[in-house]
Amino acid sequence: MEAQTQVAVDRSSPIGTIEPEVYGQFLEHLGAQPYGSIWVGEDSAIPNTDGIRNDVFAALDALDIPVIRWPGGCYSDRYQWRDGIGERAERTNAAWGGTIEPNTFGTHEFFNLAERLGAKTYLNINLGTGTPKDAADWLEYITATTGDRARERRANGRDAPWTVDYLAIGNETWGCGGHITPEYYADMYSLYASFAKTEGKQPERIISGSHDANIEYSDTLLDHPYIAGLAEGISVHVYSLPTGDWGAKGAALGFPEEEWISTLSRALRIEDVIEDQIAMFESHENLSDDFGLYVDEWGTWYDPEGEETPALYQQNSMRDAVVAALSFNIFHKHADRVKMTNIAQMVNVLQAMILTDGPDMVLTPTYHVFEMYKLFQGATALPVRYDAPDYILGEDIIPAISISAALTPEGQLVVALVNSDPKGSHAVDLSGIGASGFTGRILTADAMDSHNTFEDPEAVVPKLFKAERGLVTLPPHSVVVLTEAE
Ligand code: AHR
Repeated sequence: MEAQTQVAVDRSSPIGTIEPEVYGQFLEHLGAQPYGSIWVGEDSAIPNTDGIRNDVFAALDALDIPVIRWPGGCYSDRYQWRDGIGERAERTNAAWGGTIEPNTFGTHEFFNLAERLGAKTYLNINLGTGTPKDAADWLEYITATTGDRARERRANGRDAPWTVDYLAIGNETWGCGGHITPEYYADMYSLYASFAKTEGKQPERIISGSHDANIEYSDTLLDHPYIAGLAEGISVHVYSLPTGDWGAKGAALGFPEEEWISTLSRALRIEDVIEDQIAMFESHENLSDDFGLYVDEWGTWYDPEGEETPALYQQNSMRDAVVAALSFNIFHKHADRVKMTNIAQMVNVLQAMILTDGPDMVLTPTYHVFEMYKLFQGATALPVRYDAPDYILGEDIIPAISISAALTPEGQLVVALVNSDPKGSHAVDLSGIGASGFTGRILTADAMDSHNTFEDPEAVVPKLFKAERGLVTLPPHSVVVLTEAE
């Protein structure tokens, strides 16, 4: 019998509040999103409310989505907001990524969706092909109560202004967003931000930063003499590719164990990325202590299944569920600085919550992790101590287990446990953390690449789980979320 891992939780020195926005989503116009999957239009045979399909809406609603980033990504630097307002039948058809962008999902449709979901809004402003005036006009159109832009919005059917909660200016400016130097982008950011005003509540402003461990770009941006006074935080993008090679990333399904451990190992690197960013913030004296890190793109990225699949569409398996849970456990550990994260992406793109095909819809294993972890939204993250056993494959070694704990606003202890080992069970003893027993749910399945399909949508779904006397046996590749038993 393998030794039990003993767990201690320190309730006396909380890390900070896990902002609900850590569970944020990303909705980019890309591949099979949002057309057909979220937006079907009012005349569709697929049951919908004001053009948003009902099945997808209900599933998203059940996640308590705190915030949605829109309209990109790379797409935001092409997005002309005026193409997406007014009579839908008369909107501009534009070419984007090899398909037609009909612009029938635009500003009104996005803000109405967010409003119905009770989600905050995160707008990514077009820096690449826009102007500071376009950006200022868009914000006025969305938030003004008087003036021409408010009149125009009203003429298009919306009386009350909406709120822009978060705002980024530009995206990946070191790459698809313009290939511009950090010095040039810092000037551009400051120019746009100076005029990016809203009526009423001001959004939190996010600088588009670096990716992975490439910290220099962000470091140089933050050297700019005015930028700190014009931003509440900076973003970083971190994707986990099985091979680490953008030319041959690895398959979503049917992969060898080497690509299981390499993917998890790459996902775990996000902790170094976060810690390096925080250390870099501390070297900039002009930044306030609560200057935020916004991981506004993260997740797995695999090779496409075939030429027929929409851009960036991929299946989602037990491996993705473990990546999501490991990532959340890391974000919780850095709750004091990680103010928001946005998984890439919401439906049909990369590590999606939901996949659709015509009228069919299926929830992915990643969806179930988001749903199980909802208890952590707004909870207070606590330091957790344990000695994780190793999971070893050849030269690769990662911790076999990952544990996170937090106190909900109601004072309930919630604990998440992940077993990254695809072959071995691991025993964990929670009896030392002050509760006599725990109940909750487990997500696991037979294989590393077990997944849900339209034909078999419940192959990977959460099941009830009990930990009598605080003793937990985590089966291979499993995610467990527990609360203290009554
Ligand atoms: O999420 C897909 C793309 O990945 C985004 O458009 C871009 O920002 C990133 O490179």
